[in-house]
Amino acid sequence: MHVVNADWTYIPGGHTADDLCQRARELLPSGVFAHVIGGAGEERTLAANRAGFGRYRLLPRVLVDVAEVDTSVNILGTKLDAPIFTSPTGVINMVHPESESGIARGAAAAGVGFILSDMSSVTLEEVAAAAAPARWQQIFWRPDREIMADLVERGERAGYKAVVLSVDVGEVARRRIVRTGYRLPVEDGVANLKRYGSSEWQSRVRDRGHDADDDVSLSWKNVEWLKSIVHVPLLLKGITSPPDARRAVDAGVDGIIVSNHGGRHLDGGPGTIEVLEEILHAVGGKIPVLIDGGVRRASDIAIALSLGAAAVGLGSPVVCALACGGADVVSGFLEDLVADLRRALGVLGAPNVAGLTRDHVSRIDQYVPDTALGPFLPAR
Ligand SMILES: Cc1cc2nc3c(=O)[nH]c(=O)nc-3n(C[C@H](O)[C@H](O)[C@H](O)COP(=O)(O)O)c2cc1C
Repeated sequence: MHVVNADWTYIPGGHTADDLCQRARELLPSGVFAHVIGGAGEERTLAANRAGFGRYRLLPRVLVDVAEVDTSVNILGTKLDAPIFTSPTGVINMVHPESESGIARGAAAAGVGFILSDMSSVTLEEVAAAAAPARWQQIFWRPDREIMADLVERGERAGYKAVVLSVDVGEVARRRIVRTGYRLPVEDGVANLKRYGSSEWQSRVRDRGHDADDDVSLSWKNVEWLKSIVHVPLLLKGITSPPDARRAVDAGVDGIIVSNHGGRHLDGGPGTIEVLEEILHAVGGKIPVLIDGGVRRASDIAIALSLGAAAVGLGSPVVCALACGGADVVSGFLEDLVADLRRALGVLGAPNVAGLTRDHVSRIDQYVPDTALGPFLPAR
C-alpha cells in the first residue's frame, strides 16, 4: 500500500480512473483541474470518447487454454509488457512537482509505453535521465525546419524510440478552463524550446537563411520531409478520418494514433472508438493503428484491441493519478490496469493480445448510455 498523504492512500486494485480524478479535483486548484479534465466547447466529443465504448460488448470464448496469459507486445520495435501507453500531456508541473518525470517513472514501473509531450515542463533530456521507460517523443509542427530537425535529433540521442507528430492542432478550442480565468504557466517558454531563443541559435538560423520554396505549414509535404530525416519510426497522432489514414500510409509513416486530443479541440466530432474500425479498414493492416480518447479501464482496452488496435493510450486519468501522489500512484494505477487486462484476456479466452479478435466484441444497435460516465461528464 502506498501512503501518499495523511488522509488518502492508494490501495492497489482499489481505485477506478474516476476515483483518482475525484481525488485530483479535491487537490488541484479549480483552473488546473479544469485544464486537465475539460474538453472543447460543450464537451460533446469528450463525452463521445467515453460513451463510444458503451456501443460495444465483449464476448468471451470458452474452453481455451489460458493457464498462461501474456499481455506483452512489440510495437514498431518497442517492447511493452502490455499494449498501453501514457499519452503525451504537456505542462504537467502545475499538477505535481514530479511532472513528466513522475509519469515516466510510473510507466517504467508498470512496463507500459510513455510518450513525452513536446510541451513538457522539463526538457526531454531531463525526463530521459529521470527514468528509462519505453519512450516515444511527441512533437508539434514548428515552421522552422531547423528546430524540428534539432528536436528529433535530440530525442533520438536521448533514447526516444519513435517520433509522434501531433497533426490535430490548429485553433485551440474554447475550453472549460476559460471560465475559471486560469492561464497555463508557460510565460517563460516551453522547456524544450528555450535553447532556440538563444543568440547562438538565432545566428545559426540567420546564417542558413530560408530557401525560397520553404513551406512552413503543417502539410503532407512536410510529413514526408520529417519522415526523410528521422531514424526512428514516425507516427501521426490525431487522425480521425479514413481518407487521412490512407494518405498517412501513402506518405510512408510507420503508424497512426487515432485521437481527437481527448475531445479538447473540436466539439461535435465522433468518439475515437466509433471511427476505429473504418480507419483500420482504410489502413488495411499496412501499419499499426493505435488509439486514445476515453479509455478508462481494462474492458475499454480489450474492446479496442479486439477491434484491431495495436495499443491504447490514456491521457487525463494518468495526469489525475500523478496529481494524487506522483509516480507511485501513476505506477499503481497502470499496474492495476495491466493486471486487469491480463485477467480480461483470460476470461475472454485469449492467451495473448494477438488472440483477441473481432469475434470477441459485438457492436450493439441500440446505444446504451454508459452509466459509469463518472462525476465529470457532463460536469457543469
Ligand atoms: C492535460 C493534457 C495535456 C495534453 N497535452 C498534449 C500535448 O502536449 N500533446 C498532444 O499531442 N496531446 C496532448 N493531450 C492529449 C492527449 O495526448 C490524449 O490525446 C488525450 O488525453 C486522450 O484522451 P483521454 O484524456 O480521454 O485519455 C493532452 C491531454 C491532456 C489531458
